[in-house]
Amino acid sequence: MQVTGREKWGSYGGFLFAAIGSAVGVGNIWRFPYVAGENGGGAFLGIYLVVVFTFGLSFMVLEFTLGRYYQTSVIVALQKIRKRFAWAGAAMVAVTFGVLSYYMAILGWILSYFAMYATGMAVSFEEYSQSWYPLLSFAVIAAVNYLIVRTGVRSGIEKVSKYGILLFVGIMVPLTAIGLTLPGAGEGVTFYLTPDATVFSDPQVWAAAFGQAFFSLSIGMGVLLTYGSYLGQKRPVVSSSLVIIGADLAVSFVAGLMIFSFVFSNDANPAEGTTLVFKVLPQVFSTIELGAVIAPLFFVLLLLAGITSSISMFQLPVSALEDSLGFSRRKAASIIGIAAFVAGLPSALSYSAVDLRVNGAAVLDVVNDALGDYGLPIVGAVFAIVATWFLDKKILTEQVNLYSRVKVPAGLISVARVAVPLLIVVTLLTQLVG
Ligand code: PHE
Repeated sequence: MQVTGREKWGSYGGFLFAAIGSAVGVGNIWRFPYVAGENGGGAFLGIYLVVVFTFGLSFMVLEFTLGRYYQTSVIVALQKIRKRFAWAGAAMVAVTFGVLSYYMAILGWILSYFAMYATGMAVSFEEYSQSWYPLLSFAVIAAVNYLIVRTGVRSGIEKVSKYGILLFVGIMVPLTAIGLTLPGAGEGVTFYLTPDATVFSDPQVWAAAFGQAFFSLSIGMGVLLTYGSYLGQKRPVVSSSLVIIGADLAVSFVAGLMIFSFVFSNDANPAEGTTLVFKVLPQVFSTIELGAVIAPLFFVLLLLAGITSSISMFQLPVSALEDSLGFSRRKAASIIGIAAFVAGLPSALSYSAVDLRVNGAAVLDVVNDALGDYGLPIVGAVFAIVATWFLDKKILTEQVNLYSRVKVPAGLISVARVAVPLLIVVTLLTQLVG
């Protein structure tokens, strides 16, 4: 089902970079280490490996397959399966838009932190939050995303992802090496990698692994389906997915080494959770030698990872407006840029003087939990059910294996059709009970 005229990736490598750019994000550097630290360290790594190479891989293959087959964005793709499933696509667009809005708010903080450390004018998180800078940086981040997406898939998203990820690796490797040589780093690595075997039988830990896989691999929202829709190259989706997952895993693993080395070199608390990046690490950087150089580099690292992810989320509602309503890319990007900025304002102001709270919790945390723990898995489950049960099984099997030398047997696809949605539902229930 090739629709001519749809924009295409400039090259297959460019597609891989864009997808890796989407996957590698703030979730790898900031979220993964503390989730692993709280859930059994080395043992969590084992569980996570199992989850990403079964569930994560199946889901990613499903998204790419549908995108490549229908060559359109998520709402129209689901409509092509059955007209009545447009709402499921719309729900995915809504969740993605919501995540985009607070993800960009966090990137705004990261940008400010970079600017503060680069100019040597760092202040505490509290002081920073009370200023106007969170708003200013959020606006800058929204504008940057808008400009990249407006430039197009090939000359905007693909180029930025490629150079962004290369630069990212170029900064991450030396930073990790420096971290590992700090006094105390050994204990950090031990804490990170020593397995707590009791967690293997803990359903909460498995649920955490599923949640982390969803977020880190960028699956469940239709973002990768959208990227797959620009794939004109005759390339296999299964091996592409393996490459992307491998890269994402490697970055998460190394990020753990880096973060725990830094944290333990200062006897800081490894289970700090969400404030790790904005409170604990700055404190660490202020005490270590070379801290003045490491701090800005660390925030650039986060920024690069984050922007190559946020543009993938940004592109999803933009492509939906283009394909469903016939908007031009420029018009769609302007609308999404402004709307996401407005929608993200409460998140950006969560810790500010305005102090926006819902039942005592900061808005950003509420939105993050609601969308991450429930919104994302729910739309993901619905998508998996629609895509695997209502799309003809023969077509699905054929499309998964198209251009691929190694073929996935039809039997395995039958198993995945049941297992993938079921696993998401079980994860949701586990979270609800916990
Ligand atoms: N994978 C990104 C991260 O780890 C976040 C993301 C989720 C991006 C979903 C796109 C879609 O930070």
